[in-house]
Amino acid sequence: MSIRRLAKQQPASFAFSKDTMTKARWWLTKYPEARKQSAVIPILWLVQKQEGWCSEPALRAIADLCGMEYVRVYEVATFYTMFQLEPVGKVLVQVCGTTPCMLRGANDLMKLCKEKIGPKDHMSADGWFTWQEVECLGACCNAPMAQINDYYYEDLTPETLGQILDDFKAGKKPWPGSYAGRHSSEPEGGALTLKDTALYDGSLGKPIKKLPNLPEPAQ
Ligand code: FES
Repeated sequence: MSIRRLAKQQPASFAFSKDTMTKARWWLTKYPEARKQSAVIPILWLVQKQEGWCSEPALRAIADLCGMEYVRVYEVATFYTMFQLEPVGKVLVQVCGTTPCMLRGANDLMKLCKEKIGPKDHMSADGWFTWQEVECLGACCNAPMAQINDYYYEDLTPETLGQILDDFKAGKKPWPGSYAGRHSSEPEGGALTLKDTALYDGSLGKPIKKLPNLPEPAQ
């Protein structure tokens, strides 16, 4: 377990955006008035989506909104590593360093990040990137992998990860998924089971028009 502290430099204030407040109020309505602190984790997440990180003024505003003591919000934000306690770059690279990814080359990915971005857990000088080492992200079949912002990039090598970072910096949106040509997590070289295309082409039932939560097509 790591010791996590708030950033030394903090903004003077925090304000919920209209959109964040609308969503926060939706979460608050899910719980009885006397239990509205139950919404603290989704509201921390919404604030992080708005600001990129969770500042001390933001934690205090969340405490007021949820009717909690500030220290209780502080405890939650410093316990869960998904909450960023200092500003991060526009592109947050979270490299999995757990055993399957480590055995498949995660150390080489982290070396590349050190060279291209700088020390881990700190924003690069140009404000573009922050990289972190994280525990298993549940995509071990396609190791080594990294979560970049909201998407998984899998079967990476230092070369493919380097290209992905360059593409982000060039304003492109690199397509997430496997960089070894896998469709999902089937064996390298192709699927060995469930190969009947009728299972997927819609001929056995209602076709799937669009998968949820897909990003915009690569440019
Ligand atoms: S070990 Fe890396 S995703 Fe599980």
